[in-house]
Order: sequence, then C-alpha cells, then structure tokens
Amino acid sequence: MSETPQIACDILFAGGDVIDGTGAARVQADVAVTGDRITAIGDLSELRAGRKVDARGRVVAPGFIDVHTHDDNLLFRDANMTPKTSQGVTTVVVGNCGISLAPLILHSDAPPPPLDLLGGSTDYRFERFGDYLDALDETPAAANAAFLIGHSTLRLGAMSDVERGATAGEIDAMAKVVEEAMKSGATGFSTGLIYAPNKAAPTDEIVALAQVTSDGGGIYVTHMRNEGVDIDKSLDETFEIGQRANLPIVVSHHKCAGKENHGRSAETLARFDNARGVQKVGLDVYPYTAGSTVIMVEMVDAAARVIITWSDSRPEFAGRDLSDIAAKLGCTERDAAAQLIPGGAIYFLMDEADVQRILAYPHSMIGSDGLPHDKHPHPRLWGTFPRVLGHYARDLRLFTLEDAVHRMTGLSAEQFGLKDRGVLCEGAFADIAMFNPETVIDSSTFENPTTPAAGIDVVMVNGQVIREDGRVTGARPGRALRRNRA
Ligand code: ZN
Ligand code: CU
Repeated sequence: MSETPQIACDILFAGGDVIDGTGAARVQADVAVTGDRITAIGDLSELRAGRKVDARGRVVAPGFIDVHTHDDNLLFRDANMTPKTSQGVTTVVVGNCGISLAPLILHSDAPPPPLDLLGGSTDYRFERFGDYLDALDETPAAANAAFLIGHSTLRLGAMSDVERGATAGEIDAMAKVVEEAMKSGATGFSTGLIYAPNKAAPTDEIVALAQVTSDGGGIYVTHMRNEGVDIDKSLDETFEIGQRANLPIVVSHHKCAGKENHGRSAETLARFDNARGVQKVGLDVYPYTAGSTVIMVEMVDAAARVIITWSDSRPEFAGRDLSDIAAKLGCTERDAAAQLIPGGAIYFLMDEADVQRILAYPHSMIGSDGLPHDKHPHPRLWGTFPRVLGHYARDLRLFTLEDAVHRMTGLSAEQFGLKDRGVLCEGAFADIAMFNPETVIDSSTFENPTTPAAGIDVVMVNGQVIREDGRVTGARPGRALRRNRA
C-alpha cells in the first residue's frame, strides 16, 4: 500500500465559479496558486494550502487587462494603481494615443498638449525606452504594465517643428528609436492623429515606423485622425497602414462621434468584419457616451455637454459645466474653452445605441482610456470594468458574464501578446480577480468620479494579493512586461 503524496499550494481559492477568460462557461472549481503561477484547477479539497480564500458565491476570473490607458506615470505616482486595481485590473497597457512617457527628455517649461495628460516636463526624463522599463523594474507597481511607443513623443524628440511631415533624416532617427524600444520589449507603436504634435504626419511616415515595429514583432494601435464625419477615410488609412507594414492593428476607443454620425457603428463594424478577412484587426471601447481629453475648442460645438476636468489657468472650474462657466464669464462656450487651456474636458459625443453595438461586437476589447492625473476625471477611470460586468452584462444582458470577462482578459492578452496571462489555466501567471457577480458595479459618476467600484473582493498579481475587501495590502508584485517574454 502506498500513501498518496500530499501536494501543497500557497493559496487556494476554494469553491468559486471559475470563469477562465476564454469565453467558456463557468465551472465550479478550486484554483491553486504557488509562487507566481496557477498550479492546479479542479476539485482540490484534499490539497494542503498555506491560505484558503473562501470563494463560494464568487466568480474567480483572470485579472482584468486595461488595454487602453494613460497610466505611464501613475505607475510611479500611485504605485498601488488604485483607480485600476480597485476594479480588478491587474495589467495596464500604457503609451496609447501617440503619447508615451518614454523615450523623451523635455527641456521646455510645460509639455505640449496632450503630453501634459501624463505629467509635467520633469516627468519626461527617460532618454531611452529601456531606461523607463528599468526604472519600473527598480520600483515596481502593484499591477503589471505593457508598453507602446507614442508617435507624438517620438516626433517631439526628433523634430524641430512638429507641424509638418518628418524629413527622411527625421524618419530615420525615429525608426532607430522604435527599433531600440522594440528590442527593449515594447509591445507596439501608437498614434494620436487628431492631436497637434501628431496630426501633420502623413500616412507614409506612419507606415515607415510601423514597418520597424512590425520587424520587431509589434502591433500598431491608433487614435484615428477622425472619429466623426470622416471616420470612413480614417478606417481606410488605418487598414492601409496595417497591410503595408504587415502588422496587426488595434483601433482605439472606437466610437462614432457627433450627432450626425450617430448610428454609423453598424457601417464601421461591417468594415471591421471585411478587413478581418485580409488582416489582423482589433478594437477597444469604453462603456460611456462621453469621451475625455485635453480642451480642444473645435470639439465644443460637436458635444451635447462639456465638463471641465482640469484647467491650469482656472483650477476652480474643474468639475463645472462649460455652459455655466461661459455664462459666468459672459462669453461663448468656445471662448471660455480657449481661456481654460491648458486643461482637460469631458465631451458628450456618442449615442448609447452605438456604444452598446460596439461593446457587443465579438472582437471588441475593453479599455478605460482613463486620465489618472485629471483633477475631476471622467468616471471611466474608476468604473469601466465593473460597469461592463454589472451594468452591461448582468443588468442589461448585453452579453453573458463569460463573454464580458473574455473581452477584458483572454482576448486582450492574445491581441497584445501578453504571454501566459488573461486566462486561468495550469501554468498561467496567477493574476486573479475575485468578485461578487450579484453586486459588482461601478460607483464613479460624472459628479463623483473617484468613488471606488463595488463587489471586487480579492485582486492578485503574480501570485500576491494586492487588494482585499476594499483595502490595499501594500504588495508591489507588478512587472514591466516585455513583449512575448514571460
Ligand atoms: Zn485617444
Ligand atoms: Cu487614449
């Protein structure tokens, strides 16, 4: 007679509903974690565990991946990553919309918009992309991060005047930086073609840099030139870049902005379907009808309502409606907006039916696009993921909970090349969110935008609990993720 060897694990999530991130239906099972990995899933009641977490009545899912963030500097400023980890997010993709903190040394007084969304001039302190990743290795955050190289950042580093296309020499200089960044482990290259430092770049300039990204195995992520009347042309350009440079593309925060474009997501999503036949195409979306970015006078007319999120010249107006401010100042809304620059704003531009159609599209990933340094931020910063789970999946039944989880875990990890993440299986990294499917919901609103979400019980990153019952543990197990490296 031989005795069954007693296997042990560090932490056991016992008796929860396991939603594994692939889209598969939930199963009741235990999940064992040892070191930084998941070591077993199944009936593990015999297993000796260092600690047992009672997961009965809870969902145990992969930690959520926020594929669209501007958290480049939040990783240093709030290493607990509270706006994100409080939602169950365990990995953020930074460097979206053409703006990345690295590589750039800024000598000016203030970074030009929209680079000011990430911090002040002294925050732009990394000469090489790898220096930024090394700094994060030295002072890790609670969550993991993957990295995009921003085109605006590159242009400000390589060009004396960003209001024109780059010369051949400048393209060469930027290409070298991209090559080096890809070698350091960048995930890809991003543009923000609506913004001043990036706008003047012609398609050929973008293709040249996307080609270097492609050679390094990366992806192209874009805030397109136009998300309104000319969205068709912008999709043409985006698909063309993907084809010419032969790399996967991701359209950021897909939307149809402005009243005259409401309803057009039926057409745009059909275009994604067509493109999918010939190239790799992805998109991300946030679950709100309002967007947010720097104050841009030209966006004021298109918006049904504008809320100021911060202003350097008039900080007291943060959180106020632009219409009230204009009345107070005795001028038009456009003039008031111009006076508040540099600053940020929330713009109500979209139609709920479009938001729901895009969210429900089978290939859409969830990305918050939250702006962590805004004084009165858009509520998406603190609410995106629980809102998709609680409001859209549970309450509106737009999709199943399994489908909702897939769009914020497995699908995202696959499209952004995050190795061994986004799924719960034996051998995967132990990035885990345990939540109450009955109560999970966003609590942040346009009035009170920084209220943490409800129903998120335990958040684990690389095998360590970083948050439990609404409190941070102080652990900082987050890693700077290098593309395709574990
Ligand atoms: Zn953007
Ligand atoms: Cu963005």
